[in-house]
Amino acid sequence: MNQRSKLTVDFAGLGIPPGNYALPAPGTYDGYDRLEQHFTGDLQLSGLAPADVEFLRDHFAEQVTEHREQAMDYFTVKVPRRFAATTPDGRATAWARDFAADRHAVKSLLLSGPTGTGKTYYAWSVLRAVAETGTQLRWQMHTAADLYAGLRPRDGEDSQTAFERIANAHLLVLDDLGASKWTEWVEEITYRLINHRYEECLPSIFTSNLPPAELRDALGGRVASRLTEMCDRIVLKGDDRRKGGAK
Ligand SMILES: Nc1ncnc2c1ncn2[C@@H]1O[C@H](COP(=O)(O)OP(=O)(O)O)[C@@H](O)[C@H]1O
Ligand SMILES: [Mg+2]
Repeated sequence: MNQRSKLTVDFAGLGIPPGNYALPAPGTYDGYDRLEQHFTGDLQLSGLAPADVEFLRDHFAEQVTEHREQAMDYFTVKVPRRFAATTPDGRATAWARDFAADRHAVKSLLLSGPTGTGKTYYAWSVLRAVAETGTQLRWQMHTAADLYAGLRPRDGEDSQTAFERIANAHLLVLDDLGASKWTEWVEEITYRLINHRYEECLPSIFTSNLPPAELRDALGGRVASRLTEMCDRIVLKGDDRRKGGAK
């Protein structure tokens, strides 16, 4: 198995999106020797017979479909009813593709804007776009308030394990940062979380009602300066959509 993990496939050449796919099993194709030469890097796609390339493309395309179904199932199970029909815009879709291609290279996002401008909606739309890429990378979405409630030390419970599970998520969405009562403990746990993701180049999506000028005062300099460096900011404007009629 170890040896197989060193094998490579020219997915771009096949038109297959980046992902973690199983190779065809030996003996499932007549020209398997040639395919193997491609996997070991000795033969480029252009050196294969057209039928070989077609076989490979079909083989991986099937897994693309499976992966997409799994990723959409994961999204569908987790998304709250209110945000189930979110549609990603071009920017959300592009971000999701970059994330799926190289999760350590993509910048985090900070969605800001007053209450009701669609920050949570936008965050879920990015998660839908992530699911649509079919990536096997997994995300977690927490409101900051729930996260703090879940991580509060309790007798006999190891909150460090829970902390690490969240801190190491492939993609972490933290909704309503700065909206909870800010205590020393909240500041410390927020700092540890954000600093860990900053140091490990793990992408996050934060949402906050706080205007940029108030970030530092509200979250503390250590948190605010990391957020500023690691995030692209998306500002949501407009009226409170909740006042328009829909509850
Ligand atoms: N782009 C959008 N299209 C349609 N409805 C939206 C959009 N953005 C937000 N909404 C709706 O507006 C309401 C407020 O959005 P929400 O994301 O909860 O705001 P915020 O998180 O900024 O307080 C929700 O009912 C949401 O479904
Ligand atoms: Mg919200």
